[in-house]
Amino acid sequence: MSIEVLNLKTGQKIEKEIKELGWSVEQATKGGYGHFMLKEILEQPSAIRRAIVQDKNLVTDMALDILRAKNVVITACGTSRYAALIGRYLFSKLAKKFCDVVMASEFQYFADSIDKNTLVMAVSQSGETADVMEGVKKAKEYGAKIFSIVNVVDSSLARISDNVIYLNCGPEIAVASTKAFVNQLVIFYLLSFAMVNRLGEAIEKIRKISHVVQDVIDENGNKLKEIAEKTKDRNDFYYIGRGINFAMASEGALKLKEISCIHAEGMPAGELKHGTIALIGSGTPVLAICPKDYTFHETLSNAIETKARGAFVIGVSDENNDAFDEWIKIPEVEEIFYPLVTIIPLQLLAYYIAVARGKNPDKPRNLAKAVTVK
Ligand code: G6P
Repeated sequence: MSIEVLNLKTGQKIEKEIKELGWSVEQATKGGYGHFMLKEILEQPSAIRRAIVQDKNLVTDMALDILRAKNVVITACGTSRYAALIGRYLFSKLAKKFCDVVMASEFQYFADSIDKNTLVMAVSQSGETADVMEGVKKAKEYGAKIFSIVNVVDSSLARISDNVIYLNCGPEIAVASTKAFVNQLVIFYLLSFAMVNRLGEAIEKIRKISHVVQDVIDENGNKLKEIAEKTKDRNDFYYIGRGINFAMASEGALKLKEISCIHAEGMPAGELKHGTIALIGSGTPVLAICPKDYTFHETLSNAIETKARGAFVIGVSDENNDAFDEWIKIPEVEEIFYPLVTIIPLQLLAYYIAVARGKNPDKPRNLAKAVTVK
């Protein structure tokens, strides 16, 4: 078999370099699962183990460049932006490095402050999202250095970047991103630990956590199906969390919105009292993302405030509490790594609710896997 690429107007042959993706055919089939989304959720432990296989020199060099840069801006859309928010938190927590996250569709309005002292990091599963590409091109014109975290090898974003780290999660087919998100988090862990000369430690810890992620998958299925049945007819869901868990709440809500067509909002738990609590009534589902970390007590007290107004509180935590109408148990892990285990029940709950509502999670209404138009 041979392939020829021709210029549409002139009919002349165009020489193209052939690159091997390293993706297998099995990765691009449902492999016996009802939906790609479920298969991709269940694949996450092995995807995580592939994400930690990186060129250590490249990761370290990029980490040091991020540390040294005067200004660092991360740009992304959708799920990739929530991964970026977690990255921002990790850079700050581990390496005391501040950076900003600007959503790609808004990036052009901040471009005036970009110059050669700025390092722009773009995060994208597809590497083809038009808003991301436009912002990156503009930043490049202004002299910024471009780093990217991408899944699709040799995508437009990868080609335009000064340095690229690949997610190595194989093809992600379902529109709602799952394994790419988890691998984006892993890359942010690697970069942040590398900034403080602890890359080897991160790799070992994440390898161990990939097995804990498998336990979370194995232990929560039935419980999540039950909660999905109980809540599937509600029209509004609120996901609350503080600190790093706010980004998780936002990603959990996005998953539900995308595939179930239910209105869902992720909010910083502390902001509830500034407006949203007015919307909480009898039976409103509130997902409280409160692992036993530094946010536990405050998030719990916000959950109790919603319960007092009639909310149906679903607690995602390693410890049960009277405030929870339903408890989704996650295992205790080192504080900084909670996002890698918290995300699993949020993805599965969205999936089971979509299925219980008769939706096809792989083909959500009005959405596309890669948005290549502005
Ligand atoms: C679309 C998809 C989302 C995805 C976003 C960013 O909106 O429906 O699932 O998170 O694009 O995609 P990217 O490929 O840039 O990560």
